[in-house]
Amino acid sequence: MKNIPVVMVIFGGSGDLAHRKLYPALFNLYEQGLIHDNFAIIGTARRPWSHEYLREQVSDAVHETHSEVNENDLAAFASHFYYQSHDVTNVEHYETLKNLAQELDDRYSAQGNRLFYLAMAPRFFEQIAQHINDQNLTSTGFNRIVVEKPFGRDLASAQELNEQITASFSEDDIFRIDHYLGKEMVQNILPLRLTNPLIKNIWNNVNIKNIQVTLAEHLGVEARGGYYETSGALRDMVQNHIFQIITLLAMPEPKDLDSKSIHAAKQELLSSLIIPDEKEIAQHFVRGQYLGSDMTFAYLQEPNVAPDSNTETFVAGEVKFKQGPLAEVPIYFRTGKEMREKKNRIDIVLKHMSNQYGQAHSNNITIIIDPDMQIFITINGKKITETGIRRENLGYLFSAAEQEKIPDGYERLLHDVFVNDSTNFTHWSELKSYWKFIDAIEAAWQRENKQGKKPEQYLPYRMGPKAANQIFDSATEHWIYE
Ligand SMILES: NC(=O)c1ccc[n+]([C@@H]2O[C@H](COP(=O)([O-])OP(=O)(O)OC[C@H]3O[C@@H](n4cnc5c(N)ncnc54)[C@H](OP(=O)(O)O)[C@@H]3O)[C@@H](O)[C@H]2O)c1
Repeated sequence: MKNIPVVMVIFGGSGDLAHRKLYPALFNLYEQGLIHDNFAIIGTARRPWSHEYLREQVSDAVHETHSEVNENDLAAFASHFYYQSHDVTNVEHYETLKNLAQELDDRYSAQGNRLFYLAMAPRFFEQIAQHINDQNLTSTGFNRIVVEKPFGRDLASAQELNEQITASFSEDDIFRIDHYLGKEMVQNILPLRLTNPLIKNIWNNVNIKNIQVTLAEHLGVEARGGYYETSGALRDMVQNHIFQIITLLAMPEPKDLDSKSIHAAKQELLSSLIIPDEKEIAQHFVRGQYLGSDMTFAYLQEPNVAPDSNTETFVAGEVKFKQGPLAEVPIYFRTGKEMREKKNRIDIVLKHMSNQYGQAHSNNITIIIDPDMQIFITINGKKITETGIRRENLGYLFSAAEQEKIPDGYERLLHDVFVNDSTNFTHWSELKSYWKFIDAIEAAWQRENKQGKKPEQYLPYRMGPKAANQIFDSATEHWIYE
């Protein structure tokens, strides 16, 4: 693998994301030779750590995620880390950071390449982007920036943030990360759609009745109630992950598999995204809040949650496009906390076919993204001893050895940032469409709040509020995954 020279700055270097995801992923890329001799990583945060302490943290993070570690490699890898105590709100601190980056660039021959990773609370993104610009932290080589989610909290704030970032970085150098796009089964959607004639030929609105995307979490908000209050399920999960999955499912066939062609196909689809009106929102969208149990708090009792909060911990809804292979096909989604089990899956429901056997089950194609990874297709065959039709599954499973080999989404996506491949990152024009849709739902819910309407309550560890079973276009539709 080609060795990429770079000085990388991680804002939020003492945070959870850096520890659990970024450091282990960077170590794997180091082991593969993508970053090797000519790189330095500066971790920044306010706390007064030393270089040595950060290196210990990096080493711990790798041990926590790897069953076997080459200790010599790990020590060599960790020696490339430097810590700079830095308050992102203090302009003067950027000067120190800039000087350290330059010094490390000289020491490691990083060729003036800079990579900035914003692994911090989103309220700081704009300020960091502004100071990278006004304190001239960019350098003479490539300058790339990775921005964590959420990118804004509505279209207006996303636009503002984007303007700040584009003052220093061109669109091609901005990597809006959505780790779902690094997941194995999400990356499998296009090959599944495009390389199997059996599937490719039915991927249209003649044969597909509806699609259902479920991203179910088993945990509640835990200690993150304060953050969650500013977000809710719609902004936290739908605006990014669910929309990215839906876009891959519904986009027209791209001319090629390069970043440009993929983003062009996504944009073509999204230009026909139907923004639902108030009546459609009332019919096809449900928001919910989990109740408590003997063992667990209700959402309204969680720490840092307002006792009269209207923030939704569950949302179900419908997306439609005017154009593309699935024009006018309902794509239903739901996501929530404290659902029965952690399960991320996509069900593609095919239309019933009239046939000589009378009643036959509709066929479905199911992609399970997490926690197990598989694809299965239901088919109908004859019953063995009785008359009639039975349903069977054809499965595409990964062996345990294959599962072991599958890289974490962050490893894949960091690799792509280093090699400058933005295929699996969110383009600004896509994000704009997603926010327009989300803003319409949020506005309708705000109006409902004013009329005193609350989110539907649901029992913990089930499948969300009962009302979510009523969002379908027709009485013959229901959730396949119950
Ligand atoms: N954690 C995950 O699994 C995960 C997954 C997906 C996306 N994300 C996204 O990743 C981002 C970071 O999340 P996280 O969970 O890592 O957050 P976190 O654990 O709360 O870390 C926040 C970091 O910001 C630093 N910080 C806070 N205020 C600062 C300031 N004024 N100046 C400089 N540093 C400051 C903190 O260190 P000090 O207190 O020492 O300053 C800490 O290093 C968020 O955008 C989140 O949405 C996280």
